Amino acid sequence: MFKLIKNEKTARRGEFITPHGAFQTPCFMNVATAGAIKGGVSSFDLKDIKCQVMLCNTYHLHVRTGDKIIKELGGIHSLTKWDGPILTDSGGFQVFSLAKLRNIKEEGVYFSSHIDGRKIFMGPEESMQIQSNLGSTIAMAFDECIENPAPYDYVKNSIGRTTRWLERCKKEMDRLNSLPDTINKKQMLFGINQGSTYSDLRIQHMKDIAKLDLDGYAIGGLAVGETAEEMYQIIEDVEPYMPKDKIRYLMGVGTPVNILESVKRGVDLFDCVMPSRNARHGHLFTKSGIININNQKYQKDLAPIDKECNCPVCKSFSRAYLRHLKKAEEMLYMRLAVMHNLYFYNNLMEEIRNALDNGEFETYYNNNIDILGKRI
Ligand code: GUN
Ligand code: ZN
Repeated sequence: MFKLIKNEKTARRGEFITPHGAFQTPCFMNVATAGAIKGGVSSFDLKDIKCQVMLCNTYHLHVRTGDKIIKELGGIHSLTKWDGPILTDSGGFQVFSLAKLRNIKEEGVYFSSHIDGRKIFMGPEESMQIQSNLGSTIAMAFDECIENPAPYDYVKNSIGRTTRWLERCKKEMDRLNSLPDTINKKQMLFGINQGSTYSDLRIQHMKDIAKLDLDGYAIGGLAVGETAEEMYQIIEDVEPYMPKDKIRYLMGVGTPVNILESVKRGVDLFDCVMPSRNARHGHLFTKSGIININNQKYQKDLAPIDKECNCPVCKSFSRAYLRHLKKAEEMLYMRLAVMHNLYFYNNLMEEIRNALDNGEFETYYNNNIDILGKRI
């Protein structure tokens, strides 16, 4: 259940209550695709980096190790030892971005596994069954995520099908939640808005899915080929049609700048692989911009990654040590770099929430929007 605590123009401060505890919004979900955060960060570490919600993927857990086995093992919470909220993405996006030889039909998608080429069918019912077997807190609807740009007529047909799939998801989720051996009988379901970069289709689709009275609403199909300006425009266009009393999730976004711009436009929830992907390449977030730890100038630098950061990494280790670990290809580099970058994102969200609590979001935005994306 979503509680809107406060708002400043379209920006919102809220709380989302789930069977696995409440989390505060705006919130960034930490990506653990196959049940673990990349770089060797475990559930033990998550509280230290201010993580509120973990995100796992239906598709990855279905192809390896298999959702039925995970159910036998007690479900995703029991396995990962993360007892807070877990959102699972439906497979909709991964089937379109990873799987080979896919064939989309009214009933669902036929595709080959990216691991072993095995033929798999996934439709709305299968996606709900997998997510129910995992026992996640929040299940995402099975949708078609279309890369931008896309032809208008294709998108128009696709959103019709995504709406019909959503109706089937809801029916199947209600059925699964009523079965005696279901792990999480209070599993929540979020619908996903699609419509590419066409405002009229986005709005029509949003109106159609809002009628289903789901636990939350996501905007999907963004940050997949369009410009940031186009993305912001779509959020502005569709926002007035998103239910005010439901949580709003912008899928797969984004940079700290994208997040701040989207909170301003009324988004509550985010996820992105950027903190771990950037860490892998040596790009570390700081309050004064992004540093590249590969740089020679950090060889003898005993300062922390960011002197304003209170993460466990910055409290102990220097830039010189991180640079050394990276050059030496030590595994510890990834763990420390990912922990710092995730903390940066989670802490950014906390700062945004504090600003909203104090009615100072506009000031926070003005003070930070130009610095956050800078490379230094
Ligand atoms: N992750 C990022 N974008 C999307 C999307 O459009 N749909 C789904 N299911 N997941 C996503
Ligand atoms: Zn730090």
